[in-house]
Amino acid sequence: MGRGMTATPQPQLRLAAPEDTAALADLARRAVSAKFQHLYKPEDFATFMEAAHSDAKVAKEIADPGMSVAVIEEDGALIAFCKLVLQSTLSAGYSDALRPLELKQLYTDPERIGGGLGKRLMDWALAEAAQHGADEIQLTVYSENVEAQRFYHRYGFAKIADIEFWVGNHCDPEFLYARPMAPKDHGEGHGLAAAEQV
Ligand SMILES: CC(C)(COP(=O)(O)OP(=O)(O)OC[C@H]1O[C@@H](n2cnc3c(N)ncnc32)[C@H](O)[C@@H]1OP(=O)(O)O)[C@@H](O)C(=O)NCCC(=O)NCCS
Repeated sequence: MGRGMTATPQPQLRLAAPEDTAALADLARRAVSAKFQHLYKPEDFATFMEAAHSDAKVAKEIADPGMSVAVIEEDGALIAFCKLVLQSTLSAGYSDALRPLELKQLYTDPERIGGGLGKRLMDWALAEAAQHGADEIQLTVYSENVEAQRFYHRYGFAKIADIEFWVGNHCDPEFLYARPMAPKDHGEGHGLAAAEQV
């Protein structure tokens, strides 16, 4: 790099801390609203948002030892996040996995979609799943969210069941996706680069 040039720091992926609560809940509400709000009656959407994305709910998730929440930060602002539930409760009756882990939410700031932030979070989620000895990683995706489905297929996820997702009093068809963790996922060489380790 020539003299006078400064490196632009790469957005940093790290674990969420209690101080991130307000910013994370705000990002989640903006991202979820941008993608899904138009599909629902205002009262159903408001009920859902309060239950799933209030500051109080987000604070509880960050503090939960059974969860792992990652954020990507740039210039002091959060621009993407995902949440892991270390023992998935999604699959009862649908999967034989013994130690399934759930990827609960994965969102990029609506203005940053398509810039590789989702890939960084997914790589982190897969590495975390390996580190926790998970034999499967599971998630749910809206049946008509074909863009996210394409994203998940790229990482080896496939649909294993049709399920339901409630938004207030509105029930949507939803897909349960799973991606088996192969033994090699748990071996060396799958770790994150040093800068990514959290
Ligand atoms: C899914 C998502 C987290 C991926 O993050 P990202 O930072 O855009 O990811 P990357 O840049 O690494 O990958 C881009 C891929 O994301 C997917 N994607 C792009 N736009 C999308 C959108 N509006 N909604 C959902 N997924 C999208 C596509 O598969 C895209 O691949 P493509 O460029 O070949 O079409 C992000 O697009 C997002 O927040 N989408 C809206 C919310 C959502 O649907 N979340 C998943 C809920 S199950």
